[in-house]
Amino acid sequence: MRALILAGGYATRLRPLSCTRPKALFPVAGKPMLEWLLDGLSAQGVEAAILAVNYLEDRIKLRFGSRHGDMRIKYSKEPHPLGTAGPIRYARALLEGHGPFLVMNGDIMNELSVADMLEFHMGRGAAATIALHEVEDASRFGAVELGDGMRIRRFVEKPKPGQEPSRLINAGMYILEPEILDMIPDGRKVSLEREIFPRLAEEGRLFGYRYGGLWLDIGKFDDYIRANRVYLERVSGNPKRYRLRALAPPAGVTVEPPAFISDEAKVGAGARVGPYSSISEGSVLAERAQVRGSILFEGVEVGEGAIIEDSIIGEGCRIGKGARIGPGCVLGDMVQVRDGLTVSNRAVVCHFKEIEADVAGPINVF
Ligand code: GDD
Ligand code: MG
Repeated sequence: MRALILAGGYATRLRPLSCTRPKALFPVAGKPMLEWLLDGLSAQGVEAAILAVNYLEDRIKLRFGSRHGDMRIKYSKEPHPLGTAGPIRYARALLEGHGPFLVMNGDIMNELSVADMLEFHMGRGAAATIALHEVEDASRFGAVELGDGMRIRRFVEKPKPGQEPSRLINAGMYILEPEILDMIPDGRKVSLEREIFPRLAEEGRLFGYRYGGLWLDIGKFDDYIRANRVYLERVSGNPKRYRLRALAPPAGVTVEPPAFISDEAKVGAGARVGPYSSISEGSVLAERAQVRGSILFEGVEVGEGAIIEDSIIGEGCRIGKGARIGPGCVLGDMVQVRDGLTVSNRAVVCHFKEIEADVAGPINVF
């Protein structure tokens, strides 16, 4: 079976960090989000993954190349953003001739059993099957009204609060028959959720497959932080199982789980890391630095005695000696904070900025 992963969105709610990398490359407990998805698919014997890319796609290609385990990786780069259905149509030549295929939003952390969902799909003779997940507030998602035998009667994208047809939402994972390709207009932006699914539901050809497993959608920073917390709990203590290369903390370093430190990071004596912290490769914590509840992207330098709390620190940032960051701050890539300064209370700093005086949020610093 082939899979297409939609990974071409702009992730505007994750700026400034999404200005310089696609959402698919945001690290979740030490691995890019997309890598977790590819791990899952290749472990289940998916033959090829087609990455529908767009924005900053070079970075995705550089990271993943043309194979992931036994699974081949192909790229389908749209000339301009084609929405959620357009990219499927655009990749037609890569999808046709291989039977039904899987489509997955690239921003959903999940543990879908592809074989189980495929069995359901084939058993119903569906043209399309959507994985459905139950949530409290369906208005942020696509929500469905179910009829008999798991047939979807109605599909409503982002229903108004109070008008949700149910609490069962589109989990962003589909199995589609190749005939669906003919329903998607060519050459323009098309929404699967607003144009294709409502029509299929009316025609009675759309089915829902209940998915009750792990499901985390990453839209905004809160979601991203939650996903990191959940994954840190799983990988902490047993990183090998998840194919993560973790640093065994050197003597004199205190690590409070759940936490992840890449084996390509360095941590100085007297430093403290965790809980709920993740330190990516190339990052360096100097002596007595403290990181709590924070995600450090690649190559961050944290000066002696600096404290980072409940914050997200972009690639290549340099935090001066004795500086304090947090809580709730986001620093874009390559931000520099001078020695002894404080960046606090949900301040968001744009990439490349040099901070030369204390900053107290909530504020966006450009
Ligand atoms: N290639 C490509 N081109 N990918 C795109 C484009 C595009 O023009 N636009 C969006 N995507 C990708 C995004 O990167 C993301 O992985 C996926 O398509 C879904 O787009 P989002 O923008 O994240 O949509 P959403 O989160 O508001 O809603 C979708 O996901 C919900 C579940 O999280 C919908 O499918 C909802 O119905 C669903 O409930
Ligand atoms: Mg989304």
